[in-house]
Amino acid sequence: HLQPVILSGGSGTRLWPLSREAYPKQFLPLTGSKTMLQDTALRLDGLVDEHPRLGLLMRDPIIVCNEAHRFLVAEQFRLLGRSPAAILLEPFGRNTAPALTLAALEAAVVGAAGAVGAAGEEDPILLVAPADHAIADGEAFRRAVADGAVLAEQGAVITFGIVPAKPETGYGYIQQGEKHADAELNGTAYRLHAFVEKPDRETAERYLASGEYLWNSGIFMLRASVWLNLIRRFRPEIAEACELAMDAGRADGEFRRLETTAFKACPSDSIDYAVMERLSQAEAVPEHPAIVLPLDAGWSDVGAWSALWEVREQDGDGNVLDGDAFVHESHNNLLIAQSRMLAAVGVDNLIVVETPDAVLVADRERAQDVKAVTKFLSDSQ
Ligand code: GDD
Ligand code: MG
Repeated sequence: HLQPVILSGGSGTRLWPLSREAYPKQFLPLTGSKTMLQDTALRLDGLVDEHPRLGLLMRDPIIVCNEAHRFLVAEQFRLLGRSPAAILLEPFGRNTAPALTLAALEAAVVGAAGAVGAAGEEDPILLVAPADHAIADGEAFRRAVADGAVLAEQGAVITFGIVPAKPETGYGYIQQGEKHADAELNGTAYRLHAFVEKPDRETAERYLASGEYLWNSGIFMLRASVWLNLIRRFRPEIAEACELAMDAGRADGEFRRLETTAFKACPSDSIDYAVMERLSQAEAVPEHPAIVLPLDAGWSDVGAWSALWEVREQDGDGNVLDGDAFVHESHNNLLIAQSRMLAAVGVDNLIVVETPDAVLVADRERAQDVKAVTKFLSDSQ
């Protein structure tokens, strides 16, 4: 079985004022007619038909999100006419390593109950998907996932690597090792030689120049038992806290609530720092080799307005216009108008986002710094 796990607990502060604490970016239709959460779920449609040789059975996704967003998640799936296998509610974020641990524990329960898939099958391959990415070429993505399934089934830990375009310091970097031969693969796989999460600028520039590194896409595949083994080995406190929080948690309609005190004791850490960096170091685990599959599918982490401008279709002058927006002799702007007409004359490289209660005007090159606004807002609360 393939068990999608959608991590949907982020807050998307750099996409203010559309993305708000109560309504973060993954719940918005920023890249098309569906929200990014919905696209994440739909992206896997077709995998089983396109790759019948794998004999994969697809489970409904497990969603891990903040409890404040439970109705957004439920409603967005209802609108798709689908229901998740489970919606796990975190009372507060503890980053991605605990979120995945909860999902891995839940995946065994789903299998055991026979709710989805065959009874007794309790060690599905997890496909860990962030809820806030854009992927232009779904077929190429599914081809890579099919390869990931072949390798993950054998116990490997799979990452998907993107050819880097700039010395971005907000991503993880994967150094490719030797080729990993497997006759069953569509594409080429490489052993993961090193994994470095969020290097400083100088290091990122060095990695880019070397041509040996790929960006970590943040999408992973591995068996549920493999993740649980690794987190128990590297961060036993996280594993224990999550087990307690799940055991003492309770079902609430279609949701599953964690026990707050146990989860509060859980350290906060990401999949990348807690496990991926260590897997590539001296602590490597031979029975779970880390393997990178290059992914050329128009991947983008829609982290800031500049990324959205890159992803969306531009007019002949490089402008992206959304809503009632008009430009004259202006270039390379992103203009979003929600409640009024927005007109720009003779300006370049601007981001203007108009909403009923807030307007953002920013230099496109400074899109990362929009988080200063949300910091100001939360400090002044
Ligand atoms: N459930 C839950 N709980 N989800 C979370 C939490 C949490 O506490 N924190 C983050 N997430 C979700 C986010 O919504 C997002 O979908 C995903 O997990 C990744 O978290 P980010 O916070 O966006 O991570 P990042 O962008 O800093 O770094 C990761 O992604 C990069 C690519 O976009 C890393 O994997 C990097 O190595 C990678 O390059
Ligand atoms: Mg991110």
